[in-house]
Amino acid sequence: MCSIIGYLGDISATKILVSGLKRMEYRGYDSAGVATFADSQIRVKKGVGRVEQVNISTNLQTLPGNIGIGHTRWATHGGVNETNAHPHLSSSGQIAIVHNGIIDNYKELKEILQNRKYFFKSETDSEIIANLLQYHYDTTKDIRLSIIKTVNELKGDYSFVAVFPDGTLGAARFHEPLIVGVGKNGYFISSDVLGFIEHADDVIYPDNGEIVIVNFNGIELFDFTGMPVRHQITKISKEFADAYKGDYAHFTLKEIFEQPLTVLRAGENTRKELESFANAIKDAKQLYITGSGTSYNAALVAKHLFLKYGKKKIETIISSEARFYPDYFDKQSVLIALSQSGESADVIEAVKIAKNNGSSIFSIINSMTSSLAQISSISVGLNCGPEIGVAATKSFTSQLSVIYKIADMICDTQIEFDLQKISSSMNKVLGSHLEIQKVARDIKHASDIYIIGRGIHYPIALEAALKLKELTYIHAEGLPGGELKHGPLALMDSNSFVIAVNPNDSTYMDTLTSAREIKARGAKIIGISDIPSDVYNYWIEIPKTNESSYPFVEIIPIQILAYYAALEKDTDPDYPRNLAKSVTVK
Ligand code: AGP
Repeated sequence: MCSIIGYLGDISATKILVSGLKRMEYRGYDSAGVATFADSQIRVKKGVGRVEQVNISTNLQTLPGNIGIGHTRWATHGGVNETNAHPHLSSSGQIAIVHNGIIDNYKELKEILQNRKYFFKSETDSEIIANLLQYHYDTTKDIRLSIIKTVNELKGDYSFVAVFPDGTLGAARFHEPLIVGVGKNGYFISSDVLGFIEHADDVIYPDNGEIVIVNFNGIELFDFTGMPVRHQITKISKEFADAYKGDYAHFTLKEIFEQPLTVLRAGENTRKELESFANAIKDAKQLYITGSGTSYNAALVAKHLFLKYGKKKIETIISSEARFYPDYFDKQSVLIALSQSGESADVIEAVKIAKNNGSSIFSIINSMTSSLAQISSISVGLNCGPEIGVAATKSFTSQLSVIYKIADMICDTQIEFDLQKISSSMNKVLGSHLEIQKVARDIKHASDIYIIGRGIHYPIALEAALKLKELTYIHAEGLPGGELKHGPLALMDSNSFVIAVNPNDSTYMDTLTSAREIKARGAKIIGISDIPSDVYNYWIEIPKTNESSYPFVEIIPIQILAYYAALEKDTDPDYPRNLAKSVTVK
């Protein structure tokens, strides 16, 4: 959830660290900080807020030196304040660290270290790493040994970068991402290639349980037992060039507008994987699908599709719930994991439970170098480029694209979907974004928004509610229209807004009837449909398409609505409060 970065090279470290941190802010953005090494001294500046705010308030750029580390935080242990912000220094101030993840046994280690006269300033679990490294460095005077001894005492999931008393950078990876960049101006160690995208094309992906040491003599990699490891240097994929906002005001807007293209690119170049994936599913005795948030909503669409067109039953599991149902999985089962980042801790946990029970793991992922890709038998890529906006948009429709392709390979009944047509329908909806902006002006004062949809449109109603919550902070709830009379109708009055996801298909009349019932209670209805109705106070037109293709198209106006409502409410659509893009804590 946090981002970490280290740099050692021949240009000013803070410049590189600050721009890298800005690019990785999607990972957490409640505080930020930098430490640099120069003249045998480590200097730290940090503060609360986004990187730019901290940069201005503390003058980060004035820190001297060509070696340094940086961090953006998403608080887990201890409040959001300057003391808890990273980097953390060891009590003697000789070692500084930045950390991403959680150290489970920090309390025990803290007590031991306090008894050894190492003191702590913050409430974080992270500070333990600085003092543990310092303790082992004090006793061994050996950087390599002090890291090995430290990682062998830490319990939890983490990646960290440390600066040692001679300016050496030491880093370790355990179930959290860590990538090394090799550029003409130096070395980079970071949570994401976006941290150094402007400075290095060559990358090394250390495996889980590996340590990296970088100094002016070069780079060294070894495992937690101290055995040297070798990795190929690979080129960063060109797709990362997409990591710029360009002329768009926000990443979220850019990513919404990319969808006509990204749905076409989904699963491209992976035909062989798609086929193996489809074959494995075909033969599976029990089929499960898991994900969190938006990815779970895509899983619900998959469930509908496989049943309707392939008579194939898939059990959907919310990843964070999997730990309570380990008996779902056995040797006969196949678990499909959906994740944009491939790093969500809940998804990884669900997958591990299934894997330990002997199940096969197949995944649909955007980040093909992620932890999830590493533990899956087959992974199919979304290929939609980096998604920076915290609210998932293009990754959702790309997940649908891959799901539809796989379903199409195994279902007996032909699924009517043509990605080219879907793409042009998406373009039409995007063309009416200014009309949708007008509706956003009216919903900005709503305290509650309900979204109804039946059949395959119910998961879209859930996804719509998630987008509205994240971007506008308005309470939003997705419902199958038929459930209204079983309770939620009691909530409807003239203050309610209801979005009816109501394309002209087999669900149309049922949803229209629900909308009518709600309107009779005074609520305002926003109809998303290809045909107008007097029931709608607002009609957002979507192009006519076939029943199975509507989900791709009908989510677009809701993403736009949520985006513009966020602007109306003066919230930051790219970085909603309290959230982070990649949720790597359980
Ligand atoms: C969606 O808008 C969210 N920000 C969030 O629910 C997200 O989909 C979820 O955390 C899962 O992430 P993943 O796909 O990277 O695993």
